[in-house]
Amino acid sequence: MTEAAVCPICEGTGWKTVQRAGLSGVERCSCYSERRARELQESAGIPPNYQHVSLENFEIPGDHPIVRAALGQALIQVKNFVREFPAADHPGLLLTGDPGVGKTHLAVAVMKALLSRGRECLFFDYQNLIDRIRSSWDSTAGTADREAYRSALEAEVLVLDDLGSQRPIDWVMDTMTSIITYRYNNVKPLIATTNLPDHELNGKSKDYARKTLTEVIGERARSRLHEMCRILDLSGMPDYRLKRPR
Ligand SMILES: Nc1ncnc2c1ncn2[C@@H]1O[C@H](COP(=O)(O)OP(=O)(O)O)[C@@H](O)[C@H]1O
Ligand SMILES: [Mg+2]
Ligand SMILES: [Zn+2]
Repeated sequence: MTEAAVCPICEGTGWKTVQRAGLSGVERCSCYSERRARELQESAGIPPNYQHVSLENFEIPGDHPIVRAALGQALIQVKNFVREFPAADHPGLLLTGDPGVGKTHLAVAVMKALLSRGRECLFFDYQNLIDRIRSSWDSTAGTADREAYRSALEAEVLVLDDLGSQRPIDWVMDTMTSIITYRYNNVKPLIATTNLPDHELNGKSKDYARKTLTEVIGERARSRLHEMCRILDLSGMPDYRLKRPR
């Protein structure tokens, strides 16, 4: 915090003196939660191209009634998730559906809502997390890489974007299983997005060419995900980028 921005009420300590029934005590200054939310937001790892997204700027298209109803419903469910967070039964959220339907947008929007409430959230692109864990095995690895795995385990809320976006290799499946299992066992919320078809969710996939979530992350991890997450299926929704080229 710069000199000029020091809070005039608490002089930057985050605590203010209060008088109650003739006794003087201290309580949190109002600037504290704002500062904490800002600091959490800065260390949350939100990618630059998703910095602007929010629940408010998630558009519901007016032109197609079925899409409109489905996306409207999805947005309501996401808002419920935020309001009820952390729900005792399913504290996490799994967003599925084809590329471009808005999964990452919604996941980051949820993150921001939780960050503003003082929850520590950490965004990881799945591929990037894998790369960092792999490079952490190298003895010359930097601290950030070495900490990636621990952060993925310990973050209060982990956002794992594009889960399974890689050829399934044994160590990757094992690593993901241990991250998901650890979080499951410790009731740590996970918000994940994936464009892999999830058979048990949609019935048998007709698309035999595509690997399923189970095939890529393994049955154990998938089943844990289902136990810990509310599922939001956006499959069949249009690619937002095709309609509105940027
Ligand atoms: N309903 C929507 N309203 C506003 N922007 C959207 C919507 N859906 C997607 N986008 C935007 O389109 C782009 C692609 O969406 P994204 O969330 O990355 O898709 P996915 O993660 O499902 O592949 C992003 O820039 C996102 O902000
Ligand atoms: Mg995405
Ligand atoms: Zn203050």
